Amino acid sequence: MYGKIISNLDEKQKLLWGNQPVSLQHNLIGTDLFSDKNIAQLIENLPRERVAINTMAPSGHKADSWSYVDRAGKSGQEIIDDVKSGQLWINITQIETLDPRFSDLLEQIYLELEEDLPDFKTFKRSIGLLVSSPKAQVFYHADVPGQSLWQIRGKKRILIYPNSKPFLLPNEIENVVRAVTEEEITYEDWFDEYAEVHDLEGGMMLHWQLNRPHRVMNLEGMNVSLTTEHWTPEIRRNYAMNYGNGLLRNFGFKPRSRAIEGPAFWAKVGLTAAWRTSGMHKRKAFKRSVNLSLKELNDRNFAAE
Ligand SMILES: [Fe+2]
Repeated sequence: MYGKIISNLDEKQKLLWGNQPVSLQHNLIGTDLFSDKNIAQLIENLPRERVAINTMAPSGHKADSWSYVDRAGKSGQEIIDDVKSGQLWINITQIETLDPRFSDLLEQIYLELEEDLPDFKTFKRSIGLLVSSPKAQVFYHADVPGQSLWQIRGKKRILIYPNSKPFLLPNEIENVVRAVTEEEITYEDWFDEYAEVHDLEGGMMLHWQLNRPHRVMNLEGMNVSLTTEHWTPEIRRNYAMNYGNGLLRNFGFKPRSRAIEGPAFWAKVGLTAAWRTSGMHKRKAFKRSVNLSLKELNDRNFAAE
């Protein structure tokens, strides 16, 4: 449908894939799928609970300022206008389940990657659409699945940090994996001295290693980006190890190993499975709540002017 999406996955990039952040070029900016009109239509037509609208402080690490916003009956185009002038971050996750154009795109992306990367075998893939304000930011966090960020419109900066102590503490990634918190982990300003900085503009994608903490700052224009997520057998093992260690810690033990093989690992797999089938996973999970409406936000911005 798009011709070859990724143009420069060469031998060097293949060696780096999964071991270092890899920046590649893609051709998805050549489609009108991401025009204002099409995005407005998507936002308007999709079930409102599937379109997460957030706002946040424009600068500084103020994770508490991250709030969910209700659309207050606004049309898709009005929401796009608010994105352009405001401080919003719209995230439509698993959009492949809502629109066949995105399920086709998701399939083609992973078909290409798996053809070019013989050891890369994925399952549980998904694709999300991000539409965000010129000065929006996403605070320091780590994600559970494997992922890539595809920039379509606007410019953004992503800072990527090591996935080891002190940037990522074992108990914190365990909580993220168990979904008892919403991806928040400890951040200090000086962590930035150890970050890899990647500036992305339309036509660039970035893939990084599992669980590496990151934060994002938009630099210019309304940003339109895609996120792709996937699982591999190794990612699943890491998940089970972190989940099992988190449960052990919860029961008062201090997990000693982060190995993803051997008898202790398989015991954690069993523990994780038992906990999840018991229904306790859902009872302990973080629950999202809406804090503000777009109308209140507009009133607040108006009052501040
Ligand atoms: Fe992320």
